Amino acid sequence: MTDLNLIRSKLLSITEAADSLEAIEAVRVTALGKASEIAALMKTLGGMSPEERQVQAPLIQGLRTEVADAIAARKAALEGAALEARLATETIDLTLPAASAPQGSVHPVAQVMDELAEIFADLGFAVATGPEIEDDWHNFTALNIPETHPARAMHDTFYFPDEKDGKKMLLRTHTSPVQIRTMTSQEPPIRIIAPGRTYRSDSDATHTPMFHQVEGLVIDRGITLGHLKWTLETFVKAYFERDDIVLRLRPSYFPFTEPSAEVDVGYTLVDGRRVVGGAEPDGWMEILGSGMVHPRVIAACGLDPDEWQGFAFGCGIDRLAMLKYGMDDLRAFFDGDLRWLRHYGFAALDVPTLSAGVGA
Ligand code: PHE
Repeated sequence: MTDLNLIRSKLLSITEAADSLEAIEAVRVTALGKASEIAALMKTLGGMSPEERQVQAPLIQGLRTEVADAIAARKAALEGAALEARLATETIDLTLPAASAPQGSVHPVAQVMDELAEIFADLGFAVATGPEIEDDWHNFTALNIPETHPARAMHDTFYFPDEKDGKKMLLRTHTSPVQIRTMTSQEPPIRIIAPGRTYRSDSDATHTPMFHQVEGLVIDRGITLGHLKWTLETFVKAYFERDDIVLRLRPSYFPFTEPSAEVDVGYTLVDGRRVVGGAEPDGWMEILGSGMVHPRVIAACGLDPDEWQGFAFGCGIDRLAMLKYGMDDLRAFFDGDLRWLRHYGFAALDVPTLSAGVGA
């Protein structure tokens, strides 16, 4: 009996003395492991008489349980202390400002597309779209562009291998096929703009193989060149956010409009830079192509050109962005350089400047 009491007090005192999680683990191995005194005592039970075992077994088991409980309690106490210590040292200063999350920005092209949609929505135009992979009927034939037109040449247009049904598929070279898709799928009157990607086999500081255009189309009864001129003036003034802008319509040629006009905007020189606007311009920059929709195009879409007339225009969005926001190399638009995007990009939650509409 003395034996058990001795063992108990020795094991309980080394348990109490353990001052770290490593130390209490070592005590557990010493006190309860295979080579421990308690394990040796358990073994002696086998050699005892049944009467003696009946007395000794509960005592030895009781000792084992008491020591195991003491070790578990000490371990829990040490773990609690360790947590307390961490909580005391690892404090978080809740008064510090939070680290800001990295924020993306809206690409100037996307921003300008939004601005255009908004300006034209105020004029009653809906936004229409069409596929970037077009067939040559929508991109050329229906737009009265003859087989021999240079725009159809292999070196100007990206073609796909010939389709089984004889259709020639290509990357659309302008947004004008959306005119055709709109006229063949909805009844006039029509008022749409169609912003989107366009492709030409071209690359230098002012041309990239992929670029953006916005198409405008109005089809109704009694539409005249006067409506075209007013619409373009209203649009350009709203886009550049100034009223002193003069436009110049120069006679031009597009197969799908007759008459056709190229439109120049007047600029003023400010510190050697061309700034759009000024009642008495220092010079002119071309910004878009336009004209009265050719009767053949109207007829190709199944409408009677004696009843329906309209105007159309096509304009480079990238160029519009450059003129308003001051970038000078078109290629940088598509390089994906984050420094450029941070500089020229727009905050996603910017309130559009033109939300109040034209003249506001
Ligand atoms: N599609 C012409 C181009 O890409 C622009 C244009 C559109 C001209 C509509 C007149 C009318 O150059």
